[in-house]
Amino acid sequence: MVTESKVPANKVVRPVSEDGSPLYPDYMPFYDPLEKVEDIGPFEHFDPGHRADPAKPNLFKDVTKMWDISPHIGTEIHGVQVSQLSPEGLDELALLAAERGAVVFRNQDFKDLGFEKQKDIVRHFGPLHVHGWAPHPKNGPVEHMIIYDHKDDLRVRKSWARQSPIQFHTDQSPEPQTPGTTFICMLESPSGAGGDTIISSSVRAFERLSPRFRKRLEGLTAIHSNSDVASAEINNNGTKAVMRRDMVSNEHPVVIVHPVTKRKALYVNPVYTRRIVGFDKEESDYLLKFLFDHIIRGQDFSCRVRYEPGTVLVWDQRVTNHSQTLDYAPGERRHAFRLTPIANKPIPSLVEEDDGECEKDEMRAQLNIC
Ligand SMILES: [Fe+2]
Repeated sequence: MVTESKVPANKVVRPVSEDGSPLYPDYMPFYDPLEKVEDIGPFEHFDPGHRADPAKPNLFKDVTKMWDISPHIGTEIHGVQVSQLSPEGLDELALLAAERGAVVFRNQDFKDLGFEKQKDIVRHFGPLHVHGWAPHPKNGPVEHMIIYDHKDDLRVRKSWARQSPIQFHTDQSPEPQTPGTTFICMLESPSGAGGDTIISSSVRAFERLSPRFRKRLEGLTAIHSNSDVASAEINNNGTKAVMRRDMVSNEHPVVIVHPVTKRKALYVNPVYTRRIVGFDKEESDYLLKFLFDHIIRGQDFSCRVRYEPGTVLVWDQRVTNHSQTLDYAPGERRHAFRLTPIANKPIPSLVEEDDGECEKDEMRAQLNIC
């Protein structure tokens, strides 16, 4: 006898419109191949986290519940509307994102605030980056980077075709001053599960290496470039390709220090980091492959963020890498926007003879292997 499988009535399904149209049409992606924008140019960055009260009374005052998603990265907060935070609350959010890598807020009214208010809030963390080719809303600001995948618009799918969609990176690491406290606001998710972001702590990625190996990395620099990804935009889209800024390439330290927490972080990623300066090609390829594999394999220092419509993810790009998953049924709609404040020029960690880091590593100290 064949029994029919039924979806239980209480199974949560994410909202979609009855006629299949997008829930947020004002945020549909728009591509203008002729559009050009100016670079932001050099500026002095003062991180809002410097001003924050470490106890975070303004951020935490309305919290109903919160928990750490995994030991080394990710905190989820309920009861707080990011839109209602005072300047002091936003300073504290910058500090929490620096400490925990990623902070997840649920059921936010952020998605309904309108373009200008959304920008005003996120500009608290730095001037907003304009992407070289990713879309923005047709009647909206260039700073709103639209993340969109659907059967009617396969540009994202195309850009990841013939390779694993798991590609860890920090956004825009080839910029001279790189992004800091960044926002993603989810508008519409695939109806079932999927479309999550995996976020990985680059502080822990560095800490988990042996002390002697860490010392070898400190003082090195690497070239970051977006030429491959920009070329893919041109190759995939031909005359419809958008290239509103020139390609960017810069040299950054392999180990950086967060300006506020002063914690060291591994600052290389498989998408943008091309080569280690001063190493021959084979040496550079060998070292970078090891570091990329270390990040990709680092399930013990990463977490996975599931989105519902209205979820706002705030994360600090200086201490994390992240990857999309692109695991839901092709053709389903995933729709979000990102606002990306630019922060400091990456700060090199100091090469120290004995920085006492090994003794701070509980596992190594306990096993007496420092
Ligand atoms: Fe990204």
